Amino acid sequence: MKKISVSSSLHSYPIFIDDLLFNSRNAEIICSIQKCKSKKIAIIYDENCLPYLKEIENFLSNESISVLSFKFPSGESSKSFETIYPVLTWLIENGLERGSGIIALGGGVTGDAVGFIASIYLRGVPFFQMPTTLLSMVDSSVGGKVAVNHHLGKNLIGSFYPPLGIYINISFLKSLPEREFNSGLAECVKHALLDGIEAIDWLFQNYESIISRDKETLKHLIERNITVKASIVEKDEKESGIREYLNLGHTFAHALEKHFSYTDILLHGEAVSLGLIAALKLSIEFKKLNPDILLKTEELLKRFSLPVRMNNLPVESLISIMKRDKKVRDNSIHFVLLDSPGSPSSSSDIPKELILSAWNYLSK
Ligand SMILES: NC(=O)c1ccc[n+]([C@@H]2O[C@H](COP(=O)([O-])OP(=O)(O)OC[C@H]3O[C@@H](n4cnc5c(N)ncnc54)[C@H](O)[C@@H]3O)[C@@H](O)[C@H]2O)c1
Repeated sequence: MKKISVSSSLHSYPIFIDDLLFNSRNAEIICSIQKCKSKKIAIIYDENCLPYLKEIENFLSNESISVLSFKFPSGESSKSFETIYPVLTWLIENGLERGSGIIALGGGVTGDAVGFIASIYLRGVPFFQMPTTLLSMVDSSVGGKVAVNHHLGKNLIGSFYPPLGIYINISFLKSLPEREFNSGLAECVKHALLDGIEAIDWLFQNYESIISRDKETLKHLIERNITVKASIVEKDEKESGIREYLNLGHTFAHALEKHFSYTDILLHGEAVSLGLIAALKLSIEFKKLNPDILLKTEELLKRFSLPVRMNNLPVESLISIMKRDKKVRDNSIHFVLLDSPGSPSSSSDIPKELILSAWNYLSK
């Protein structure tokens, strides 16, 4: 079992990575969960993760921890006030106390929404992440950003609320549909672009064993990605500086997700894939990024069956959506750019024609 420790302003928390996490009595994991003062835990689980709920219930019950569970509807549209209100009601009705813990069992949607619930219920209760998608293992569970969407934009209501522990059981990925698995790979490509050319080459060299879900390769992939993300969030937890680099491609991606009303016409990672292409195109024109990096990234995303073009994008309407993004500064849209692999920067000072040209490049 691999263990990585991440520090935050509230506490340090462990991330455990293995394919057999809950199969035997694992003293270190139990000890980290028992940091809650009460022996009562509420598991809020994605409706597609029922088999894993049973596994975790058995694991916790063997330690005399009493477990309550709530089925959370799947899909991006569940990251909303309307969906979390009944969960809060259920927690109150079941007398979950301040010393009790809440576990999010699911992908980034469940993790973000349940983390937000944990941050506001009784002004904050202990919270644990058990991510079940590749995207949530390599990205969303780490770093303490929790949120729900507003109908005017994505992740507009949220908190910084680090978990007390993250438990990554790679065997949960066996049931993840291929499209969802690939969606997680878009965030891996983003991390590689932020990390440097060696990380991009590693993805190229290993793409076959990644897409065939070879366990050892996946452990390595997840560990590499967590290390990149943790090294950034530890330096800038509240996104007042370099943490914004993790949003590479996301100003475009969030506009696309909003345009498609957060439906599965475009998954989050697919939107990130398109957003990375647009951000690199902008970086070539505004920052003199070497165009070969864009071509190489396109090739990598294609090998992961991710979209790199989309027909008939309503460019003007997408720019209007971008203007409502939470990264807007003094009415200017703020972009993360890449000077070269491993060297990101940002700017709010980009001429509209370059933004248009990046969108038009995507919609070719
Ligand atoms: N907080 C952060 O720092 C951060 C970072 C990146 C992304 N995000 C957020 O993450 C969300 C996307 O997360 P996601 O891609 O995990 O989506 P998701 O949570 O919607 O999960 C994708 C789908 O897979 C299903 N599923 C989950 N685990 C499964 C399993 N093991 N087997 C079978 N099906 C399973 C779910 O029911 C869902 O249908 C977005 O809302 C995005 O904004 C947050």
